[in-house]
Amino acid sequence: MYENIKYEVKGNLGYLTINRPKALNALNTDVLAELADALKEIEADDAVKAVIVTGEGKAFVAGADIAQMSKLNAVEGRAMMQAGHKVMNTIDQMPKPFIAAVNGFALGGGCELAMACDIRIASSKAKFGQPEVGLGIIPGFCGTQRLSRLVGKGMAKYLIYSAEMINAEEAFRIGLVEKVVEPDALMETAEKLANTIASKAPIAVAQAKIAINNGFDMDLKSASQLEVEATTVCFGSEDQKEGMAAFLEKRAPEWKKR
Ligand code: CAA
Repeated sequence: MYENIKYEVKGNLGYLTINRPKALNALNTDVLAELADALKEIEADDAVKAVIVTGEGKAFVAGADIAQMSKLNAVEGRAMMQAGHKVMNTIDQMPKPFIAAVNGFALGGGCELAMACDIRIASSKAKFGQPEVGLGIIPGFCGTQRLSRLVGKGMAKYLIYSAEMINAEEAFRIGLVEKVVEPDALMETAEKLANTIASKAPIAVAQAKIAINNGFDMDLKSASQLEVEATTVCFGSEDQKEGMAAFLEKRAPEWKKR
């Protein structure tokens, strides 16, 4: 069904793989459209509790497609950037956890895709960067915003103004990734984390994502109220009753998923 991506479901996990290895998985408008469709599938499928995003071959994603962008005028460029923002924001706002398993180059739009995910696990071979100013543009899939929120304004300016490419250890040091593992251990580590998250109450994980992602950009008073409301949703669920009963009865919870 898809030509430029692969989407598979195994157990409780969705696997979203960018699959244009000849172009180092560069994101053109076809890839973005397929990603948007796959995200609709993911959102509608209650069986999918967590999603792993990765790239086929030696790159995670080496950026937006430069060959395609080189021909765009301002109106067309804007449309492509809007399509990229839509994909990134859908991942950011969907109340399901997304884990980026960064297997190689995560540059430009690739770094932005990784940043839109909730958690980033990197192979020790991965490389990160926002090379756009060297091409006459700026990060266009929300990198100016997500990078500064993840690593701070000063480091974001350092990376974006210099277009410097950094290795996985440096990405870990500055807080751009949460874990670095040997290449062979990447998928196993991502799956283990995804399965751990999938074993928790889905409504609680969803409300945690809503509270963290939406609260982050609010003032503390509003964000604290958002957390109260998100917790209230949990208290209204069967899974809050089940999770606490299971603890008190010293047994594993059986989530009702509501
Ligand atoms: N767009 C289109 N094609 C790309 C690409 C991209 N972003 N990145 C790599 N490719 C293509 C290459 O053109 C090459 O194609 P051909 O075999 O047809 O020549 C193929 O993928 C393999 O790439 P290389 O031969 O360059 O591989 P390498 O191992 O020598 O170098 C690399 C790897 C350092 C990642 C290099 O490919 C590179 O610098 N790529 C561009 C990275 C970049 O600038 N990304 C930012 C794009 S702008 C952006 O993303 C804007 C935004 O925010 C939305």
